[in-house]
Amino acid sequence: MKKLFLTLFAIIFSCPILHAQKFDGLALTPPMGWNSWNKFACDVNEALLRETADAMAVNGMKDAGYQYIVIDDCWHGQRDSLGFIHPDPKKFPSGMKALADYIHSKGLKFGIYSCAGAQTCAGYPGGRGHEYQDAITYAQWGVDYLKYDWCNTDGLSAAGSYTTMRDALHAAGRPVVFSLCEWGNNEPWKWAPAVGHLWRTTGDISACFDCEATHGTWSSWGVMKIVEKHPDLRIYAGPGHWNDPDMLEVGNGMSFNEDRSHFSLWCMLAAPLISGNDLRAMNPETKEILTNTEVIGIDQDSLGVQGYRFDSKDSVEVWVKPLVKGDWAVAFLNRSTQKRSVDFDWSKNIVTDDFSKRTLNTNETKYTVRNLWTKKNIGTTKKNVSAELGAHEIFMLRLIKQ
Ligand code: GLA
Repeated sequence: MKKLFLTLFAIIFSCPILHAQKFDGLALTPPMGWNSWNKFACDVNEALLRETADAMAVNGMKDAGYQYIVIDDCWHGQRDSLGFIHPDPKKFPSGMKALADYIHSKGLKFGIYSCAGAQTCAGYPGGRGHEYQDAITYAQWGVDYLKYDWCNTDGLSAAGSYTTMRDALHAAGRPVVFSLCEWGNNEPWKWAPAVGHLWRTTGDISACFDCEATHGTWSSWGVMKIVEKHPDLRIYAGPGHWNDPDMLEVGNGMSFNEDRSHFSLWCMLAAPLISGNDLRAMNPETKEILTNTEVIGIDQDSLGVQGYRFDSKDSVEVWVKPLVKGDWAVAFLNRSTQKRSVDFDWSKNIVTDDFSKRTLNTNETKYTVRNLWTKKNIGTTKKNVSAELGAHEIFMLRLIKQ
């Protein structure tokens, strides 16, 4: 009897531990979608979300792989007397379930934002102490993606707080992509692969190529500043668990070359592609960038290996990323504000990637060279590749194994 009791006791109390995990099989390639913050900050409401879903469904983005419509901070109203969270009734008069149903009816998925602290970064009710209750609420609403922030968390353990929310989501039972947003403060790459599907590696992005934008006590960062912050994180990324250098600023004010370089670099980094512009009013150039399926194919490559900077000379950087079937992506980035010429001899540049155990050696293997922005084959690796690059321009290629 005593033995039976002890066995039952062991089963009951080990179950939550055995089953507590993130949802597997989600985000096997980096998540793609849209988030309200970069363009709209706190100016969010249900019309914006519905119109954004309408736009994504028909403007080529859905066909190119974008899925998640994520509402960031400032959607919140109050908690009720039992502690359940409700949306702001003025901004979301139809409620979150109706919004999620609408987004789902467009063949898209619905994402929401909360924070591990008692208040979000913008001062709305956070998740602390309400994790299980919020996870149930999100499941009832039909939430597919949760971005979880890190404001107002003094004294909390990041790994502990995010693990609690992971377990709450899992207990609620609806598969949710879990996006950790603690800005790389606690080296999430070391513990987050078991907790979430993506984790921010830096502070917030800003719509500039290489600037630091100061906001009193904190700064946000241009594209290249973000790229420089953690150059050595690629070993932590892979299918189901990605480094997140923050959402895209394409279409939010940089030049065409800069937007293209930003997008290309995020693809080379196997970064989540979360657009952050007004999808209802995109100019053709922005749309062309966001929907180039050949460039997106580099990001979404199923090998799931993050690319890296192979070389840098006279402000021209060479980035490489191994792909499935022995292909490679190679990008030449002009970081300077002056013109630069590229003349690259494949035979003299042998790339050996110890992490993925792949080698790019054109003396042994021949490749067709395809320009991913013009979508044209431009020869083979028997010849040098040459290009003239303007300020902050990128030249992005796929080497297709022959
Ligand atoms: C933090 C995050 C941003 C955004 C804001 C919202 O700064 O890093 O991405 O979610 O909070 O307040």
